[in-house]
Amino acid sequence: MTIKVLALCGSTRRDSLNRKLLEVAARGALDEDGEVTFISLADYQLPFYDGDFEQEYGVPEQVRELQGLLAECNALLIASPEYNGGYTALLKNAIDWISRPRKGGEPGVLLFAEKAAAVVSASPGPMGGIRSMLGMRSVLEKLGAMVIPQGFSLGAAHRAFAEDGNLVDGKAGTEVRSVGASLIRVARQLSRQ
Ligand code: FNR
Repeated sequence: MTIKVLALCGSTRRDSLNRKLLEVAARGALDEDGEVTFISLADYQLPFYDGDFEQEYGVPEQVRELQGLLAECNALLIASPEYNGGYTALLKNAIDWISRPRKGGEPGVLLFAEKAAAVVSASPGPMGGIRSMLGMRSVLEKLGAMVIPQGFSLGAAHRAFAEDGNLVDGKAGTEVRSVGASLIRVARQLSRQ
């Protein structure tokens, strides 16, 4: 069975370091014969979640699309940038919307339940986005995702990438790829159960 991975970055910045890191991790998933779909939240202009908005207008069509994408995948790979010691509002807002009921009324949170997930993070700072990564892991765990123990927080990320998109530090590159590879292996085990 081919494991389908949804790869999502919490930054829509053109030169996002997290997006670059996501791509390195995704190569590890491809090494394990996973299938990776990248999405950019720039393509889903979501309003900030508001209960009154939802009651009045319903769940936006873009959220329905994201829910559909999540339903089709076996694993979730997230690059979570760090803003002021936490994950980005953009990423959390998308997750909050996705967790709302689906068209048939099924809770959106079930889209995360027992799904393999991995988180990486990059920042120009010395610790990378460690706080964001840990915070995002905790959100995903709350939603019932099986967050794999492997993750990677890339410090000094503005100096870390070579022209070809690989990490200059080969050892770090191998570790980041192994996050994607482990994600596939765990998702494969889960899909057998
Ligand atoms: C940051 N940045 C940052 N970095 C960090 O390591 N810890 C932090 O707490 C913060 N806080 C923070 C707040 C705000 C409002 C901004 C705009 C930035 C730096 C941030 O990690 C850096 O800009 C990354 O490059 C953002 O990720 P992308 O867009 O490169 O993926």
